Amino acid sequence: MSNPFKKQEVEQYERKRYRGLDQKLVHSREEKILRKILEEIRKEDARVLDVPCGYGRFSPLLLEPGVSLVSSDLSFHMVKRAVERNEESARLSGVVADGISGLPFKGEVFDLILSMRFFHHLHQEEERKAVLGEFSRVAKGGVILSFYQQNPLHVLQRKLRRRIKKSKTKIKMLSREEFQKEVEGEGFKVVRVYPLFKGIHSQLIALLQKA
Ligand SMILES: C[S@@+](CC[C@H](N)C(=O)[O-])C[C@H]1O[C@@H](n2cnc3c(N)ncnc32)[C@H](O)[C@@H]1O
Repeated sequence: MSNPFKKQEVEQYERKRYRGLDQKLVHSREEKILRKILEEIRKEDARVLDVPCGYGRFSPLLLEPGVSLVSSDLSFHMVKRAVERNEESARLSGVVADGISGLPFKGEVFDLILSMRFFHHLHQEEERKAVLGEFSRVAKGGVILSFYQQNPLHVLQRKLRRRIKKSKTKIKMLSREEFQKEVEGEGFKVVRVYPLFKGIHSQLIALLQKA
């Protein structure tokens, strides 16, 4: 994850990443869960941080009336695209930053942090700790964080996919106990966990609050 996406890679990623039927389903289920959580924790004039924002897949969902959104990513071209896609919104700003080495924000400024599809790319516990530590520092409200939970069926499926060269990405899966311990270690409590597709997909979306 340390090589930031270049312009052409971003274009290709945006065109292809959620094109297949299975990925469209994943995207639509992610949106549904996020919408539900956002309805529950809605706050007027909230400051929201989307990190990593990628090409801004969730910006339209986050940009409810009154919300100020900061879209941040390691890749300049991802941030640029996220801002371009929503250029009519004066309530969106883009910030290029490395979520592992530190976020360039003051403490307790965000009412909500959204972090989708990042945690499972962090293979070292130290990296996850650093990211959670930064979230804990800059958040004053909740954090929505997706992660992959160990699931023997999915491990087998990923091995097969890699074998037939459909996927080169290695995913870090954690047990629920490990996940809980890591987030609690950085000052959060797990409020609720939503499975993407119970029993058949390992991705979960967790709502965390400062303990
Ligand atoms: C799988 S994408 C997810 C993007 C977005 N959250 C979504 O779900 O569409 C992972 C993103 O993490 C970004 N990234 C990788 N390492 C990072 C780091 N250390 N700090 C911030 N962003 C990083 C990549 O540039 C990429 O845009």
